[in-house]
Amino acid sequence: MSSDVKFEIAPSILSADFCCLLDEIKQVEGHAKYLHIDVMDGHYVPNISFGIPVINKIRPHTDMIFDVHLMITNPEEFVEKFAKVGADAITFHIECTDDPKALIDKIHSLGKKAGIAIHPDTPVEKVFPYLKDLEIVLLMSVIPGLGGQKFMEDAPSRLKAIREELDRVGSKALLSVDGGIHTQTIETAVKSGARLLVAGSAVFDTPDHGKAVEDLICAVKL
Ligand code: DX5
Ligand code: ZN
Repeated sequence: MSSDVKFEIAPSILSADFCCLLDEIKQVEGHAKYLHIDVMDGHYVPNISFGIPVINKIRPHTDMIFDVHLMITNPEEFVEKFAKVGADAITFHIECTDDPKALIDKIHSLGKKAGIAIHPDTPVEKVFPYLKDLEIVLLMSVIPGLGGQKFMEDAPSRLKAIREELDRVGSKALLSVDGGIHTQTIETAVKSGARLLVAGSAVFDTPDHGKAVEDLICAVKL
């Protein structure tokens, strides 16, 4: 694999200490361009995280790219609100809409990058018809809803299948992977084609979050 492969880390604030959320973000700001923001509604996933008011409050304090991951039912009802509070990219689950293309178009009409996320139980081929329309394809490598789970064994082959199709159709969409990314798994994920690596516990369950991001980058030997 050539060493000019570029990849980015997206620290996921789901594992941050919410008592001092801004301090947590400031620790990763100089080390990562993207900030991954997990929104859970207690319906699509059996957990509730945070939402629009929190994003609204942190937006003025950082220029990081807000990579908003909606784990919610009826995403079409909410994308406008997330766009308004400053999401840069809005990723919805393909399992949560009947009309992915209409939702992609809606996100684009709001001036935002559009992403589709794929649950581990969903065949990756479901996203193939939309690859040329998307800026992000996010493969879940754990069951959505919780941080700190183990990177699934079939994630590399699923990433490779999407990577091949992205390249075949000439899509420039960023292939993202979310769940279980640590220094032990990140190289496999990058070698399987991922270019935006979401990491929650590997970054925020450590004393020095900036160093944790650098450690992840250094763990990839291409
Ligand atoms: C899980 C979330 C992830 C989560 C990843 O549903 O989408 O973004 O923060 O956490 P780790 O990196 O700890 O697996
Ligand atoms: Zn996520």
